[in-house]
Amino acid sequence: MLCTRGTKQGMIKNMAANIVIGTQWGDEGKGKVIDILASRADVVVRSQGGNNAGHTVASGGEVYKLHLIPSGILYKDTLCMIGAGVVVDPKVILEEIDGLSSRGVTFDNFKIDPRAHVIMPWHIILDGLSEKFRGNMDIGTTKRGIGPCYMDKYERSGIRIYDLVHPDIFAEKARATGKLRNSIITNVFGGEAVDIEAVIKEYTEYGKRLAKYVDDVSVLTYEANKAGKEILFEGAQATLLDIDFGTYPYVTSSHPISAGVCIGTGVGPTVIDKVYGVAKAYTTRVGKGPFPTELDNETGDYIRNNGGEFGTTTGRPRRTGWFDAVIVRHAVRVNGLNCLVVNKLDTLAGLDTLKICVAYKKPDGTVVKDFPATLEELEGCEPVYEEHPGFKDDISKCRSFDELPEICKSYIKRLEELCECKIAMIGVGPDREQQIER
Ligand code: GDP
Ligand code: IMO
Ligand code: MG
Repeated sequence: MLCTRGTKQGMIKNMAANIVIGTQWGDEGKGKVIDILASRADVVVRSQGGNNAGHTVASGGEVYKLHLIPSGILYKDTLCMIGAGVVVDPKVILEEIDGLSSRGVTFDNFKIDPRAHVIMPWHIILDGLSEKFRGNMDIGTTKRGIGPCYMDKYERSGIRIYDLVHPDIFAEKARATGKLRNSIITNVFGGEAVDIEAVIKEYTEYGKRLAKYVDDVSVLTYEANKAGKEILFEGAQATLLDIDFGTYPYVTSSHPISAGVCIGTGVGPTVIDKVYGVAKAYTTRVGKGPFPTELDNETGDYIRNNGGEFGTTTGRPRRTGWFDAVIVRHAVRVNGLNCLVVNKLDTLAGLDTLKICVAYKKPDGTVVKDFPATLEELEGCEPVYEEHPGFKDDISKCRSFDELPEICKSYIKRLEELCECKIAMIGVGPDREQQIER
């Protein structure tokens, strides 16, 4: 049994509402883990982010790349939902629905919360223009309009899914907010105005197609929980990309940490039983921002090529580096992790030595074990490494912890000690089957 917790009576209870979140800078293999856990779940819910996410699920020779649709969709009877905290690009979600439908995936059990905000064309334009304006201070966003959409949400001028599926309301709101955004696009950035009437026409059609999926995800999740159904909350992005607890400003505009699940779904924290944190056996990052254990050398190239580290959403090469126990410990704390999943151990095969960052050394010589709160404090910090022997074996066929070479076992046990969290699953390949449960 995976990651269980003792009750007061010392009994082992099978958990009913679990969260899966990223512990590093994203792309840890959350999609794969969610797909595995979804086989035992009745409901899968996404609570934040948008199509900046790219979750890969590999099963039986088929590969699915999901951006907005929860990874549980591949199970026909699983209720798959998009919560209020997600930002939805209607064009992208319909393309995704069409693409998956053509591969035999059904959407009879798919819901979108009416409160979720809509990514409009001006958000995508403004994402690109702001990045350009920042010059070499750019964030390296996915340019999917995520930040500008959340800006409108918090400014209280956003358009929600409810509006989109009500043509009169939608037209009125799109005209009002579109006019203001056009004025920013043209007057501030010197860009080209959006044809608002054409957008209203196009998006009204998207609204018509999406209307049948709209339902109250907070109510449905609550009812499912009351009925004793197994619920899985699918995290997108990751802890170090969290707007508050990540490497601000090189972060995304939502709360990918576990607490974000309650806000973005509309259920209280008492519903949650267990939080799984997903990590890679090394570290990657797409986009700009600090990365203390980054390997800008041949070893980094080796990991990138061996692990196929190229973005699922933008195709950008991912920056690669050693496992950083300081950031994963930070993730254990801010997410209240019950256990860790360490993926892509197989990718490290062939390296003579594996390094693990155990702490940071500040420019004044002080050693810190907690991830610094600001970039200013992180500036100049050098990783303190511990060396571990590498392994050459192909571990992709191992299916139990005991089958792993001793070196791999001791590497995993050391990560567990350093991160102060149990490692419940280990990934040895991209396929559903290539996962070791402990
Ligand atoms: P997500 O955003 O966290 O869902 O992760 P992505 O799908 O963006 O990136 C993870 C990549 O690693 C995908 O291509 C997965 O198929 C792949 N992957 C996941 N787990 C493993 C593993 O244990 N070993 C290998 N070699 N690949 C894996
Ligand atoms: P998954 O769910 C990796 C990064 C972008 C950029 C920053 C801000 O697949 O792990 P945004 O477009 O969100 O405003 O970009 O966040 N980013 C991700 N990096 N995986 C993701 O999602 C990401 N989603 C956003 O590269 O650095
Ligand atoms: Mg990804």
